[in-house]
This record gives sequence, C-alpha cells and structure tokens, in this order.
Amino acid sequence: MARTLDVGCGINKYPGSIGIDVNPRTKADVVCNLDHFPYPFRDGTFSEIRAIHVIEHVGDVIRMLEEFYRLLEPGGKVIIATPHYTDFSSFCDPTHRWHLNSYSLRYFGERNAGYGYYSGARFNEQRVYVKLLALWRYLGFEFLVNHFERFRRFWEYYLCYVIRGKVIEWELRRV
Ligand SMILES: C[S@@+](CC[C@H](N)C(=O)[O-])C[C@H]1O[C@@H](n2cnc3c(N)ncnc32)[C@H](O)[C@@H]1O
Repeated sequence: MARTLDVGCGINKYPGSIGIDVNPRTKADVVCNLDHFPYPFRDGTFSEIRAIHVIEHVGDVIRMLEEFYRLLEPGGKVIIATPHYTDFSSFCDPTHRWHLNSYSLRYFGERNAGYGYYSGARFNEQRVYVKLLALWRYLGFEFLVNHFERFRRFWEYYLCYVIRGKVIEWELRRV
C-alpha cells in the first residue's frame, strides 16, 4: 500500500496521504516548516511524495529534494508541479521565490550538464510534462513540446516568451 506524503498540502490534501504544511489552517496532519530540516519522519518512510505548487515557495529547492531523497524508499516516486516561469502566476504571486523551467530538476539526474555536483541525491526523470496556455494547446504546441524532447528544448530556448508555458509537472524516481 502506498505511503504518501503531501508536502505543502494546503486544503487540497491528496486522498490517503499524510499532509504537512506550515499553515495550521490547512488539512495538514503535521504542521512543520519545509525550510527547517530534517522533516519529522524517519528515513525511507514513504513510497511517494507529492509537492503540488509548493517548491516555488520554499527557501532551498536543492535541500528540499535531498530531504525527499532521505524520506523515500529506493525507487520511491516524487510528483512535483510548479508554474512555468513564463506563466502569469509565476511572477504574479509575491510569495514565489523561484521561477523555473522544464530543465530545472535535471541536476539530480544523469543529464545534468556537468552540474551533478550540486547534490548527491539522485532521481531519474520518469516524466516531464509542460502544460501550455489554452490557445497554444489547441494549436498543437503542447503535443509537440511533450512528445519531442528536442522540440521542448527549442521551445525553452526560442519560443516560450511568445508560446507561453503554464504548469510543469515532473514524475521522478529515487535512485
Ligand atoms: C499554492 S499552495 C498549494 C497547496 C496545495 N498543494 C494545492 O495544490 O492546493 C502552497 C502551500 O504551500 C505551503 N507552504 C509554503 N511555504 C511553506 C513552508 N516553508 N513550509 C511548509 N509549507 C509551506 C502553504 O502554506 C500552502 O498551503
């Protein structure tokens, strides 16, 4: 049976999960600050960790992922969603500290562009999905971005300020 941790669960805690959040007015089972380490669970406690629209709020993304690595069993799953930096919401919310693109978590994997030394924690990217604004989705750009990695790179480099992103979703596996 999945043991799931929903970090920064807010009021939409994932069904069946343990929720943690800094705000006691949420559905959190444990009130704690994701910027204070370690989180109050033993190594390898969880088979899945979900962070939905949370990493843009925390003080140290690398350290948080390292904590996920500690809390997950080997092969455990991480689901992360965050605004693409070209979305309206990314810069609109003054509590957002980070503005990310679809390559921002590559530093934990093999294709880290030589920056694997950022962290010893290792995750494989099982899936990266970029949602685009509705107009671009209807015109087929979301399909191209998500089915052809080279096109996604081209889009990030050249097109995304016009064909704007909305949300990035990652599924990672702890190595
Ligand atoms: C945009 S809400 C997302 C809530 C929920 N995951 C969802 O998808 O509806 C961000 C949540 O992260 C929590 N949060 C932000 N910074 C935090 C921190 N340092 N420690 C714990 N929770 C934090 C907020 O209290 C809030 O509930």
